[in-house]
Amino acid sequence: MRVLAHISDLHFGTEIPTMVRTLKEDLEKLHPDVIAVSGDLSQRARESQFLAARRFLNELPFPQVIVPGNHDIPLFNLPVRLLNPLGRYRKHISWDLAQTFVDSEVAVFGFNTVRPGKWKSGHLGESELKRLRTFLGSANRKLFKVVVTHHPLVPFRARKVFSVLSDGGADLVLAGHLHRGVHGRAGLRRRILFAEAGTAVSTRARNEVNGYNVVTVSDDRVVVQIRAWDGKGFHAGRSITYPRASCI
Ligand SMILES: [Fe+2]
Ligand SMILES: [Fe+2]
Repeated sequence: MRVLAHISDLHFGTEIPTMVRTLKEDLEKLHPDVIAVSGDLSQRARESQFLAARRFLNELPFPQVIVPGNHDIPLFNLPVRLLNPLGRYRKHISWDLAQTFVDSEVAVFGFNTVRPGKWKSGHLGESELKRLRTFLGSANRKLFKVVVTHHPLVPFRARKVFSVLSDGGADLVLAGHLHRGVHGRAGLRRRILFAEAGTAVSTRARNEVNGYNVVTVSDDRVVVQIRAWDGKGFHAGRSITYPRASCI
């Protein structure tokens, strides 16, 4: 059995300190095997915001797979945005834009969808699809395969993406960006789980409450639970049990 915590859209710079502290305590109690962080760690890609995000991540003693979000490249500083868009992210958060975590039960692959020319929508071209295919193909078939992106993958060339995910035996795709906590299953040849997380600790919750996802993977099932902020702490919200794709 493996427990994955999926946090997203921390947006340091707009963080709510009580929530940051409570999330850290919640994660310590949960003791996940790995934490997936699906982008937008900062609000405006400022040094101070990345430093705050880095401090928070350093206090979580668990393996992490982190990808950048569109807020992690500068919006207004055009020269930096065009010449070295992820420079600050790489300096403070991770030089590696394709972080992975693999153990005897799960393989988690971080997948960067951020491009400076596409402020909000993200990008998934042929070279990215090739990398995705390579990763999925290289992981042991028995592992539970997880892809972590900032932008939800479904709007991108959906047919082609589904085909790469299905052929590669992907089990779960984790994303953020839309600041909503939702999950469900889709796909034709293989039923793949898609889960998005809301913003965990920022004021940018839009019409949703803050929250994050906990994914528990067993031999025959996957339980996805949203832990939602209720004004005092993160508490168990909607939880759905799905059969594992290989068991359908
Ligand atoms: Fe965001
Ligand atoms: Fe975003």
